[in-house]
Amino acid sequence: MDFSRYWAGRQKQVDAALDRLLPSAKTRPKTIHEAMRYSIFAGGKRLRPVICLAAAETLGGRTEAALPLACAVECIHTYSLIHDDLPAMDNDDFRRGKATSHKVYGEGIAILAGDALLTIAFEMVANARPAPRYGTAALVLELAHASGSQALVAGQVADLEGEGKKLKLPDLQYIHHNKTAALITSSIRLGAMSANATPRELAGLTEFGLSLGLAFQVIDDILDVTQTTEQLGKSAGKDVAAQKATYPALLGLEKAKKEADRLTARARAALKPFGKNAQALSAIADYLLAREN
Ligand code: IPE
Ligand code: IPE
Ligand code: MG
Ligand code: MG
Ligand code: MG
Repeated sequence: MDFSRYWAGRQKQVDAALDRLLPSAKTRPKTIHEAMRYSIFAGGKRLRPVICLAAAETLGGRTEAALPLACAVECIHTYSLIHDDLPAMDNDDFRRGKATSHKVYGEGIAILAGDALLTIAFEMVANARPAPRYGTAALVLELAHASGSQALVAGQVADLEGEGKKLKLPDLQYIHHNKTAALITSSIRLGAMSANATPRELAGLTEFGLSLGLAFQVIDDILDVTQTTEQLGKSAGKDVAAQKATYPALLGLEKAKKEADRLTARARAALKPFGKNAQALSAIADYLLAREN
């Protein structure tokens, strides 16, 4: 398959749907809608929505049915980045190649833009057309759990509390699993649910998502030490400065890279039962391992 073409095409679909589903920048109060759109359209990779669509396609589903769910996960992700960058959290000035939300709009509006993106995600899910096996409540529960205090928020809490501490590997895995792998896995699961996945299909894709999600955060940690701010579009070297618990900090760069390889191989192995239908997901796993931002 022509992967760059596939990726660019799906990104375009996601961007168009986000533009349709978010209130216009002229909607009152203008500041908040402008701020929501500023961060959403600042130039993210769109990994989570694209894997949501790819999971649906793997099961023969239509991307149109998965699109509102794909937009919802991107809204949750973007809210988590706005809040992650706040002075009270990672205190970052630069995100997606631009000034962070609080630098442009001030902390109050940045916090509210995050709140509003988190909330509108559930509106998008509630408006999505459910599949026979997965009603609206199942979709809402899926996203609520992945975003909440026992998943994404749990990971962010442990990440903050882990600053300056020498954590053991299981603690680090807990952080990565929750702050990053949970939403990535949920993106895949929601795509699969929109395509009316059988329980067995859902379990297989969940396994893929968990390994891919962990690999993704290990690579994020590696890139923080190996790339420049320009390459990343976000400030490099922040993890060492903030004494964050990361894979390179705990294992060293070489072992961290090996771990990313191992997790990616494990993710790809979970795709075996899907054969050729999982071509796109498999290519995404390869792309993420080789990525430079
Ligand atoms: C960054 O995610 C935050 C992590 C969970 C590591 P991405 O690397 O997907 O960020 P964008 O969406 O491309 O900006
Ligand atoms: C962010 O992890 C995870 C979430 C936003 C949930 P990081 O703090 O490592 O992400 P970056 O490096 O700032 O993108
Ligand atoms: Mg953080
Ligand atoms: Mg951060
Ligand atoms: Mg990081």
